[in-house]
Amino acid sequence: MTETTVWKRPHILALADFSPAEYDAVLQTTASFREVLSRRTKRVPALQGQVVAILFFEPSTRTRSSFELAAKRLSADTLNFAPGTSSLTKGETILDTAKTYLAMGADIVVVRHQAAGVPATIARALTKLNPKVSILNAGDGQHEHPSQGLLDLFTLCSLLDWESPRLEVLKGKKIAIVGDILHSRVARSNLWSLTAAGAEVHLAAPPTLLPTLFAETFKEARPGKVVLHHELAPALEDADFVMALRLQQERMTQNLLPSLREYHQRYGITRDRLKLCQPEVKVLHPGPVNRGVEISSDLMDDPRLSLIAQQVTNGVAVRMALLYLLGNRNNE
Ligand code: NCD
Repeated sequence: MTETTVWKRPHILALADFSPAEYDAVLQTTASFREVLSRRTKRVPALQGQVVAILFFEPSTRTRSSFELAAKRLSADTLNFAPGTSSLTKGETILDTAKTYLAMGADIVVVRHQAAGVPATIARALTKLNPKVSILNAGDGQHEHPSQGLLDLFTLCSLLDWESPRLEVLKGKKIAIVGDILHSRVARSNLWSLTAAGAEVHLAAPPTLLPTLFAETFKEARPGKVVLHHELAPALEDADFVMALRLQQERMTQNLLPSLREYHQRYGITRDRLKLCQPEVKVLHPGPVNRGVEISSDLMDDPRLSLIAQQVTNGVAVRMALLYLLGNRNNE
């Protein structure tokens, strides 16, 4: 963050209304935490004495661990919550659970829930009780996943300019997002951030996973920046980056696909298909991956082409930045 930029946003719930200055503040703060994480002693006292409560009502591996490690690297105290072993099983409501953590002194509450809007509802309820509390959305239903969008943004921007990752380096780049766009909060957050950067986003999926109506919001908000395809080839043509998305079988209530095998044949990202893209193309995937479905197994494991491991590594620095910006807001 530049010396003069002051972080004002009390909660991070979505990227839909992020300003370019906010994106750049996150990118710049992340770069300084990336430096901290490269030291032998990877811990700073920035959030010493603060409490970060991590409330995940839905399964997760990387996002939950990433937030926990980020909070610990900032010297915060962390509280973890797992629905299966909590008082939710005794009938306590989600809001009452969140209020319990607030009463214990939580300064930042990180929330993941299978229903869109839960983090925002918790933010409204807890702010009434304590205006200093911050809520961070770690994924809500099919709505948004802002920390994932920001770590993807950081991964792309720092690949293009390692020393000074900033929004403008993505201007004019072609990025293909391929897969289960209908169910993906990652696609939605990325659509906001990548188009804010001036990139051109090409979405490719079977019609059942990419309804035309879905794209209308983005096409209206960011005219000329979002293009829809129901075939893979035109999306990949000359693309600088390809982001594959997981088929979210747990969210598919109807038969939206003939078979996973057929999906891979038509939309799977393989080395061969990448020949359509720019020679320096790189592939992203937010994980978890259905190996051999969205992306071929050998491509996923090839560090020259795949940014998947870098995304996970950068996730910790990005989440440190987000917790730091929220945690220091009340000191300004
Ligand atoms: C994503 C999620 O949960 O939204 N994963 C993640 O957080 N890295 C994507 C997915 O579940 O497919």
